[in-house]
Amino acid sequence: MSSAVRVCFVCLGNICRSPTAEGVFRHLVADAGLTDSFEIDSAGTASYHTGDAPDVRARAAGERAGITVNGKARQFLASDFTRFDYVIAMDFSNQANLRRLAPDHEAATKVRLLRSFDPAAAVNAPIPDPYYGDEAGFDDVLELCRVACHHLLAGIRAKHGL
Ligand code: 4NP
Repeated sequence: MSSAVRVCFVCLGNICRSPTAEGVFRHLVADAGLTDSFEIDSAGTASYHTGDAPDVRARAAGERAGITVNGKARQFLASDFTRFDYVIAMDFSNQANLRRLAPDHEAATKVRLLRSFDPAAAVNAPIPDPYYGDEAGFDDVLELCRVACHHLLAGIRAKHGL
């Protein structure tokens, strides 16, 4: 649908945080009965994991929380700035890399940190990279994504009259 709001979540590898945020956001959008009003995707700033499924620990954390975490990793491209209205970075480094890739000022303004939508989060608060940590880190990521995505969806609904 051409009037859909198009949202892409972006981390480094597209196997842990951004597919988790994508799954959480899809779940919240479906619960709100708004699936047809959105196009939702995720990508990584790096290409190391292109083609890979989400990390097994991210999928397991999703299962524990009733969230489907799936997809196939891909790298975020400069051309994606024309495909998406919201480019949602997981941490400051992702945000900086995305802004550097942005072809113009308008594209750069589409890039926002996920936790910037959470009114309780500190300025520049990240979704921390769980890759080199333990299972609990993946549960923490999921919970941070759940809170921030709730506020992101509320903000988009208000802005777009959904
Ligand atoms: P993600 O986590 O950015 O949340 O998908 C990572 C995945 C892979 C690597 C780092 C972070 N890596 O170094 O391969």
